[in-house]
Amino acid sequence: MSLLIKNGRIITAADDFIADIFIEGEKITTIGKDLSMPADKVIDASGKLVFPGGIDPHVHLDMPFMGTFSSDNYETGTRAALFGGTTMVIDFILQRQGHSLREALNEWKGRSDNNCIGDYSFHMAVTDFNEDTKKEIRTFIEDEGIVSFKTFMAYKGALMIDDRQMIGLMEEVKKHGGIINVHATNGDIIDYLVAKFREESKRAPLYHYLSQPEVTEAEASERFVDMIHYTGCPGYIVHLTCEGALNVVRNATRRNQHVFVETCIQYLLLDASLYEQDFEGAKWVMSPPLREKKDQETLWAGINQGLVQVVATDHCPFKWEQKLLGKDDFSKIPNGHPAVENRMELLYSEGVHKGRISLNKYVEVACTNPARIFGMFPRKGTIAVGSDADIVIFDPEEKHTISAASHHMNVDYSGYEGWELTGKVKTVVLRGSVAIDNNECLVEKGYGQFIRRNKVTGNL
Ligand code: URP
Ligand code: ZN
Ligand code: ZN
Repeated sequence: MSLLIKNGRIITAADDFIADIFIEGEKITTIGKDLSMPADKVIDASGKLVFPGGIDPHVHLDMPFMGTFSSDNYETGTRAALFGGTTMVIDFILQRQGHSLREALNEWKGRSDNNCIGDYSFHMAVTDFNEDTKKEIRTFIEDEGIVSFKTFMAYKGALMIDDRQMIGLMEEVKKHGGIINVHATNGDIIDYLVAKFREESKRAPLYHYLSQPEVTEAEASERFVDMIHYTGCPGYIVHLTCEGALNVVRNATRRNQHVFVETCIQYLLLDASLYEQDFEGAKWVMSPPLREKKDQETLWAGINQGLVQVVATDHCPFKWEQKLLGKDDFSKIPNGHPAVENRMELLYSEGVHKGRISLNKYVEVACTNPARIFGMFPRKGTIAVGSDADIVIFDPEEKHTISAASHHMNVDYSGYEGWELTGKVKTVVLRGSVAIDNNECLVEKGYGQFIRRNKVTGNL
């Protein structure tokens, strides 16, 4: 199969030019002006933007969590991602404490194998680091192509590891060419505040927010960057939300250490006033919680300063009936929020269209940096000869409205209901096949491939 995309305005992290793209099989083979080779299919992209496929490196699909499972499985989640211009996601495997990493990998493969529509990979969350787990790190990096290891400094008693385990894991991961991801909030302080509010019968969603104040994130982020500085292991802070935590990273970068920062689209656009409504606020119960307007400005600035390298989603949807598990107790509301389908369009509309970030920066944080940081560049994350033909054709003028009634995520509400956006994904190509066109998905369950990743250096 061959495909010729004509006359699009091609945007990469570095370039902006009008040209044609010729694709043979799964790869881009030629980029140039007025290409005239015969092709099985020709798409006219005149007047459209042409981006690399988006990569969302932080999603939780079909994940067992807080007594239930996130409501998008690998099929519905990767299909919704494609509708929104995200051609690849990185999901999280969670080790069960007392069990091996291999057991968890097998369990996650059981749910994901042959079920994805879009491409995917896994981060391996280490929740119990010991002499046995230590031996598994090399195998994951060398044999499985899984080079990133997630750690939780919170969710005490379920996922959290202590600093002793953290340091040991960092040394091992560094030795074999991997990177450590972290959910950086202070689990002990959060635990204390949750117990205190519950005892005082303060049980509304607002108290979820109040039990994770900014200091819990700033403190843990500082501890994490100090530990990666000490061990020399590359580190990546997931879902950073606030000024206090970003200031810690700003200081750490003066030591020239390898630390990357991800924020998520919701922390750029939504704020904690959403918790000031009875149980409705449960829609935005996630960890860390939404912050203040001043934090949004800090995060946009962080993107432009190059301190925040990635905008992801932490897509972890729960239906309303699942959120109701915490109707009488905020600590039982499953934590998470749906966004994988909306990220690229929200970031374009609120970021590029409103003049907060440039087009090149948009591609950098939504497509290119996730590929670079996690060992997939230049196969993924750019438009170049030899890269996978993962391409989004985007109408920068089309207006549309977000609604749960029309989205493709398996969840019965949207955190952005009624938001009017400018800019819409029109066509999505995944490894040379037209995957989305005219609001229709044209590829089947099983088309999505597991992407093995290369070792990383911690440099962009
Ligand atoms: O609320 C969230 N973020 N749920 C998913 C798990 C995590 O902490 O990333
Ligand atoms: Zn987290
Ligand atoms: Zn997460």
